[in-house]
Amino acid sequence: MSPPSATSFTTDVVPQAPEDPLFGLMRAYRADQDPNKVDLGIGAYRDDNAKPWVLPVVKKADEVLRSDPDLNHEYAPIAGIPSFTSKAAELILGGADSPAIKEKRATSIQTISGTGAVHLGALFLSRFYPGTKKVYLSNPTWANHNQIFTNVGIPIAQYPYFSKETKGLDFEGMKSALLGAPDRSIILLHACAHNPTGVDPSLAQWKEIAAIMRQKSHFPFFDTAYQGFASGDLSKDNAAVRYFVEQGFELVVAQSFAKNFGLYGERAGCFHVVTSPAPDAENTITRIASQLAILQRSEISNPPLYGARIASTVMNDASLFAEWEDNLRTMSGRIISMRKALRSKLEELGTPGTWNHITDQIGMFSFTGLTEAQVLKIREDAHIYMTKNGRISMAGLNTKNVDYVAKAIDKVVREAQ
Ligand SMILES: Cc1ncc(COP(=O)(O)O)c(C=O)c1O
Repeated sequence: MSPPSATSFTTDVVPQAPEDPLFGLMRAYRADQDPNKVDLGIGAYRDDNAKPWVLPVVKKADEVLRSDPDLNHEYAPIAGIPSFTSKAAELILGGADSPAIKEKRATSIQTISGTGAVHLGALFLSRFYPGTKKVYLSNPTWANHNQIFTNVGIPIAQYPYFSKETKGLDFEGMKSALLGAPDRSIILLHACAHNPTGVDPSLAQWKEIAAIMRQKSHFPFFDTAYQGFASGDLSKDNAAVRYFVEQGFELVVAQSFAKNFGLYGERAGCFHVVTSPAPDAENTITRIASQLAILQRSEISNPPLYGARIASTVMNDASLFAEWEDNLRTMSGRIISMRKALRSKLEELGTPGTWNHITDQIGMFSFTGLTEAQVLKIREDAHIYMTKNGRISMAGLNTKNVDYVAKAIDKVVREAQ
C-alpha cells in the first residue's frame, strides 16, 4: 500500500491561482514608500485630500438608526428589507409611477451589493432562462462579469464597445455584433458610467440598441453601479433602464449602492426582475420571486442589514433624500472638475494626441489610451498606479496631484513617440 498523500489538493488538482489584478495593484500601492505616490486604480470615491468620504447623509441616517430604541439584530426576511427593496426599485425603474411597479410586473430581492446581484441574476438565468444560454459582454467590461457568468456555467461572448481610434463608442461594431448574436441571447448592458471605459451610448443610441434587441428577442441584463454618481442626477443616470421598461421589455437589473452611498464594504444591493405587460404578468412575477427566494436561501439565507437600513432610511425620508442628492452632486461635481483639470493640463503641456475623451467620458473611470508599457513605466518612474489597460479612477485625482499626474502622463507619452 502506498503511503497516504498529505493532501488531496495537490498542485495539479488545485493550481495556484493568480492574484486578483485590482487587489494586487492596491497591495503594491500600499507597499510603495514614495511620498508622491498616486492611486488611480481604486474604484472608490476619494475627497480632495485623497481620503475616503463618509457621506454626511449617511452619518445622519446612522444616527437615526442608533437612536431607534426598537433596533434589533434579528434576521432580515429572505428577500431583504421591504422598505429598502421597494425604494431601490423605484429609484432604478423610474419612480412609483413606473409602469412595471404600477402593474405589479416587478420583483426585487436584496443582495450582497452589486456583485451579489449580478451573481443571483446569472444563477437564476442559468437555471431558468429558456432562450440562448450565452451572455454577451461589452469588450472591455468589468472583469468580474467574466468570472461570475462562467462560474454559473453560462458561456460568454463579447460585443465590440470601445473604439481605440476615437476613444469613444464603437457603435457600429456593437450593433452588428448584437444583430449577429443568436436570437434570444442575454446581453449585459452597463446602465450608465460604463466600467472601465467611461463611455456611454447616447439616449438616441440606446433607442437603436433597444430596437435591435427587440428584433432579435435578446434579453437585457442591466448592471447599474453608478446611478447618480455619474452625472449627479439620479433620473438622468437611469434613463436607459427606464426607456427599456417603457418599451415593455422583460429584463433584469443588478443594482449596487456601493458608490452612490459610499457604502462599499456594507454590501447593499438589489436584484430586480421586470416582466413584460401581459394578463398573467403578476402571476409570472410571483413565480419568479418564489424561485429567487429559494436560490437566495441556499446561498446566503438572508442579506446583511446595516447598509440596506442606511439606504432605506435615506430613501424613505424626503429631506434626507434631498440631502443625498446634494451629496451625489458633491461627488460627481468633484470628479467632473478633475476631468476638466486633467484635460486642460495635458492640452497646456501640448501632450501629443487628443485629450477630449477625458471630459467626454463619464463616471468614475477614464480610459486614457495609455498602453500597458506606458502604464508600467509611469508606475516605475512616477509611482502612479493604474490598471494595465490604461484605466484611471478620476476619484484618485485631486487639486494637489493633478499637475504631477499630467506631467507624468506627458512624459511617458512623449517617450513613446
Ligand atoms: C460595472 C460594475 N458592476 C458591479 C459592480 C459591483 O460592485 P459592488 O459589488 O461593490 O457593489 C461594480 C463595482 O466596481 C461595477 O463597476
